[in-house]
Amino acid sequence: MKASILSAVAVLTGHVVAKPGPPPPSLASRLQNISASIFPDLKAISLDIWNHPELGGNEHHAHDLVVNYFSNQRKGEWKVTPHAHGMETSWPGASRYSCGKPLPAIGFMAEYDALPEVGHACGHNQITLVGTAAASMVRRALIELDLPGRVVVVGTPDEEGGGGKLNLVEAGAFDGIDIWMMAHPSATDVISPFKSVTDIKAQFRRDTHNEVIREAYSAMLAVKDLVAANGLPGTASTASGVVNVGVFAANVAQGHIALGISGTTLEKVQETVASSLDDTYHGVSFTAVPDASVAGGVNLTVLGPGGHGSEGDNNPLTLTIETFRALNADAQGENLAFYLPGNTTSSGLDVTFDIRTRYTVELSSVVEAVKAAIGSVSKAVILTGGHEGPLSDSTTSHDHTPSLEVTSYLPDAFLEVTKQAELYGENNDWIVSDKAPASTDASFVQGAVVDPKTYELVSAARAVFHPSYNICPPEMASCPFNHEPAFRELAGAEFGLGQAEIMSRALAELAVKLLEGKKMMKDAVAIVGKKKHD
Ligand SMILES: *[C@@H]1O[C@H](CO)[C@@H](O)[C@H](O)[C@H]1NC(C)=O
Ligand SMILES: *[C@@H]1O[C@H](CO)[C@@H](O)[C@H](O)[C@H]1NC(C)=O
Ligand SMILES: *[C@@H]1O[C@H](CO)[C@@H](O)[C@H](O)[C@H]1NC(C)=O
Repeated sequence: MKASILSAVAVLTGHVVAKPGPPPPSLASRLQNISASIFPDLKAISLDIWNHPELGGNEHHAHDLVVNYFSNQRKGEWKVTPHAHGMETSWPGASRYSCGKPLPAIGFMAEYDALPEVGHACGHNQITLVGTAAASMVRRALIELDLPGRVVVVGTPDEEGGGGKLNLVEAGAFDGIDIWMMAHPSATDVISPFKSVTDIKAQFRRDTHNEVIREAYSAMLAVKDLVAANGLPGTASTASGVVNVGVFAANVAQGHIALGISGTTLEKVQETVASSLDDTYHGVSFTAVPDASVAGGVNLTVLGPGGHGSEGDNNPLTLTIETFRALNADAQGENLAFYLPGNTTSSGLDVTFDIRTRYTVELSSVVEAVKAAIGSVSKAVILTGGHEGPLSDSTTSHDHTPSLEVTSYLPDAFLEVTKQAELYGENNDWIVSDKAPASTDASFVQGAVVDPKTYELVSAARAVFHPSYNICPPEMASCPFNHEPAFRELAGAEFGLGQAEIMSRALAELAVKLLEGKKMMKDAVAIVGKKKHD
């Protein structure tokens, strides 16, 4: 700070000799240079996390890797608090470069949880990478440029389970900083809102195994038909993707579903399945074989890429639901029965439905419509957010995740940064979209207040900037979506990690500009704390 005060005096007294030296490097090229010295280590950490996937709340290896890096390799640069905010696998790292107070501050969020069975198929190893790299770049740039500011990076566990960040909000982890940033690897470069989401669990209980399977499949069929008939209320609502038959799990459609069928012939089953399996099923295949352990039984096993439970694509479960429909429609005798291969005795089955809609205020009406569809064909007990009864209206409830809204100022400022095509653009071209592709618990950090009639964003607890960036190489004809196993490969591949480097630099440049420019910062946080008008 001393140096900049001195130069200001020189200007005032007119003693600055206008000796044109080489122009100082642009912020963007400075960041490129800074990145060269910090990104490789963080990339190695990201790959280590990718190689050791851990489910939400159990991210001990990831936590320790990041904490050790900042505590030891970057000794003295950051204040590091392991196991922070009452969460075993959270850490905040704060770096303060300052003189005087109050300091403008920017925070980065770093996720690192994986998915059951498919590892880092949501690419959260890269979210840690972008969060820690961007924060490190900002810190270094502030020092080089002699700018006061505060940078924080918070490890945010358990995104997939839904709501890890709500615990952190309640613990005050995001307080005192108005702008929070993170970026998600994806199939496109886009700045978009995210949907509101909840899971409901239907508990089917009957006297016999055949009855309970029949009831559960009838309910899944009823929900599927409600969705297909555009019968869901709300905006861009989905209730597809029964997430998991039997287990209440994260939003991963199973890549493997088995349905046992007896009272018909193997040929009939094969024919029926084959006639349903059209090109709306991407990468789905099946086998139907005699079941050695059930007299006259056929073991139908369907395999596929799984993916996001909320995706519109038909998945393995969809094929067994359609087979169930078609066989029933064709049933001649009374003998047709269904069972779970390897499990023909259980008289209870739980099914999870993943329900999403564009705006939080619409979610409970979608849930009610799905409950009604299930109730029309079954007596299932339905749990919403883990309990019986209606969904809570609160936007800070573990019942559901609210929508994330796009605040007006930051996207434009980001596009201004990334239009420097030679530094950010070779494979990238961000757009702003109002299509909400998925959900994120970063919405708890934003705390958006949306007008229930116009859906306009009225205010927010914090400005949250959450772009997505493409990690599919340009030569790839069809890009897998998050949660598909093929996306996992991209999240650990060289091209995708290179895209993370670009994303980190772009966020860092935006952050430095915000910390540098009082007016920019003021405009960016204008949405914060605005009161809801009636
Ligand atoms: C790049 O960084 C190195 C140190 O890491 C420094 O010596 C060099 O001057 C920097 N170049 C630019 C253009 O900032
Ligand atoms: C049978 O299925 C039920 C319901 O999915 C499950 O709770 C039970 O553990 C299964 N039993 C076996 C032996 O797989
Ligand atoms: C059903 O068939 C699949 C595929 O052939 C096989 O992997 C599975 O073990 C079978 N299940 C039972 C219970 O026989």
